[in-house]
Amino acid sequence: MNQQPSQQVEKGSRYVVAVDGPAGAGKGAVCRAVAQRYGFSYLDTGSIYRAVALLSLNNPLSDQEALGCLAAQMPFEFRAVEGAGFRAFLGGEDVTVALREERVGLRASQVAAVPQVRQALLTFQRRYGGSQNIILDGRDTGSVVWPDADLKIFLTASLDERAKRRALELQQKGETVSFHKIRERIAQRDEQDSSRAHAPLAPAPDARRVDTTLLTLEQSIDRVADLVDEMVGNKPR
Ligand code: C5P
Repeated sequence: MNQQPSQQVEKGSRYVVAVDGPAGAGKGAVCRAVAQRYGFSYLDTGSIYRAVALLSLNNPLSDQEALGCLAAQMPFEFRAVEGAGFRAFLGGEDVTVALREERVGLRASQVAAVPQVRQALLTFQRRYGGSQNIILDGRDTGSVVWPDADLKIFLTASLDERAKRRALELQQKGETVSFHKIRERIAQRDEQDSSRAHAPLAPAPDARRVDTTLLTLEQSIDRVADLVDEMVGNKPR
């Protein structure tokens, strides 16, 4: 990764779909399914912040410049692996599972507030996928990373519903979890992500809002797919 200004990476003629929203709204599952349905490339931008977090937990650095350098130089890859979906690699090691730990998510929210880290990761995000159509999800992909995206979506759900989904996900992995603890942690991340000075979580003014509180995963995917159909001209706007 290098730190050139994002403006030097042109969008070109490819489609870019930017999906933002709070933790647990279903962005990842929806984007993976939509990427598969339309043959788009996919980037979970949270995983790159999580990768910086994981590196910094293993090697604590208090200095913001040093954190920025760590982000700029980390050997990170996010790619589809035959039969195993999208996987994240750091220096060739598969860190997909390690990145999902709660402590890594909380730390990610902290390193994501560091301007040097955000700047270092900006060019990586704009370069990702080369000239392929792409869907990416995160917190500021429509407002900061791709203000010129063809379609911007703000995917959200109530705090209770997001905490319920996260609790179920952890239970299915066999982890014992307290719903209240999860709810508290998600609320804490919402607060950290929304109140930071640099690129806070907020819908881009021209984002289409999709609230998944009362939708199943399938319905959420269909809702987003409808918007992609509009974008590519399969449906009138
Ligand atoms: O989406 P996920 O929960 O994996 O993201 C982890 C953290 O990374 C978020 O809480 C947020 O602080 C940060 N993030 C960000 N900008 C993005 C994606 C994630 O600040 N585009």
